[in-house]
Amino acid sequence: MTLTRRDFLKSITAAGATVAASRWAAGAENAPLVPGSSSETVNVAIIGAGAQGRILLESAKNIPGIQFKAVCDVWDYSQQYAGNFLMKHGHKVNVYEDYREMLDKEKDLHAVIVASPDWMHAEHANACMQAERHVYCEKEMSNTLEKARTMVETSRSTKKLLQIGHQRRSNPRYIHAFNKLIRDTNLLGRVTHANAQWNRSKSDDIGWPKKYALSTERLSKYGYSSMHEFRNWRWFKKFGGGPIVDLGSHQIDLFSWVFGSNPKSVIASGGVDFYTTHEWYDNVMCIFEYDTPKGVSRAFYQVLTTTSNGGFKETFMGENGNIVISEVPPVGNTATQEAQNKATGNPEEDLKYGRSDWELYVKQGLLGSTRTPIRPVATKNTNVDARVSAQLEGYPLPIELAKPAHQPHLENFFDAIRLGTKLNCPGEIGYETAVAVLACNEAVRTNQKIEFKPSQFTI
Ligand SMILES: NC(=O)c1ccc[n+]([C@@H]2O[C@H](COP(=O)([O-])OP(=O)(O)OC[C@H]3O[C@@H](n4cnc5c(N)ncnc54)[C@H](O)[C@@H]3O)[C@@H](O)[C@H]2O)c1
Repeated sequence: MTLTRRDFLKSITAAGATVAASRWAAGAENAPLVPGSSSETVNVAIIGAGAQGRILLESAKNIPGIQFKAVCDVWDYSQQYAGNFLMKHGHKVNVYEDYREMLDKEKDLHAVIVASPDWMHAEHANACMQAERHVYCEKEMSNTLEKARTMVETSRSTKKLLQIGHQRRSNPRYIHAFNKLIRDTNLLGRVTHANAQWNRSKSDDIGWPKKYALSTERLSKYGYSSMHEFRNWRWFKKFGGGPIVDLGSHQIDLFSWVFGSNPKSVIASGGVDFYTTHEWYDNVMCIFEYDTPKGVSRAFYQVLTTTSNGGFKETFMGENGNIVISEVPPVGNTATQEAQNKATGNPEEDLKYGRSDWELYVKQGLLGSTRTPIRPVATKNTNVDARVSAQLEGYPLPIELAKPAHQPHLENFFDAIRLGTKLNCPGEIGYETAVAVLACNEAVRTNQKIEFKPSQFTI
């Protein structure tokens, strides 16, 4: 729904709020929350209320004890949308164009969600932490490692929390698959390979309602030369990292989680092959190598923007079985056992050859019970030779996420503020992922294998 300025002003006036320009929001001095008091209200603001900012607002509105106090965005259209949305859900917010003014005036803020374009993350997150606010910052942490590094340094020097928005790290389905099944249960044995993809159909560049076009002066004040650049920042080298960074960062982050190590090298191929007016590569295919505690593993990743074939999902392949998972369960939610790993009923033999009975895991609730054939069975009309492996059966992963995908990650952030619990994706992890992800673009550019030193991942 598109809201007019009149709608917006009407709604905030009705609810008793005013825009920042006309009021000084005096409040308690950013008092630290008392650890252990989960009922305490956390006062929150958002910087950058575009497409993702709205998804985060939608998720955060479901979390008890979260009070939005302010919205900051340089675009009236986003200000209005977010302001109206929050007012509708009972949050009296002040609206700002300038984040400095917001930090200065909103004295009782505890935390800020940063969902501005990648290139502004460091400036926004650092200013918030320096102003004594905890920060939830969207991925990619930054479009350069230099800026990403400053965010971790600021978090350390100010002792403020910095959560990076790789939300799968808090998703109970992923935690179950990776921590419970792959790590604790050793369901897959040695995971030798991973394969992940984000394929989406071709699309036009993003537009804007013409009546909300920003003036050239305002665009230039914020670093953009046109509305087209402002709306399509992802494709420009100055502002973002293209699809491999935008989409790939979520999934390349998972490789390190599962393998328990950062990559030791990456090779990549890609190009500006289809959208010839774009700066960033519209497709990238890359292979990472990992030295894991169990041996070398390799992970293939592809991001394609001209076909949606297969959608977005991640596959982890082990000697004993495989897991396919996606943030959208219908695309990936299955564990399959390799036939040679199946228990034969002879306990001594099974122990000797490391075979297991996955029905035991079903009984323990670690796997779901509805098994489905994964590979088509050979029919008499199909030529199948001896090289074809036996058919597999898929067990569904038993955990469901009955909330918006970003909500658990926000909850993890707010719990860390209120209860002192651990962040699932602190700045340090976001940085490690950024090192691996940004290297893909460099590998494409130079057409060279990039070897990482462990020291590159630490700050
Ligand atoms: N975690 C996820 O699943 C996920 C999904 C999509 C996007 N993202 C991330 O969220 C961030 C925002 O992406 P988006 O898709 O919402 O982009 P967008 O262009 O839709 O929104 C960006 C918003 O930031 C505002 N903005 C731009 N410069 C600003 C400035 N200097 N100060 C304040 N506001 C400013 C714009 O007006 C706009 O409202 C990016 O970092 C992106 O990578 C994360």
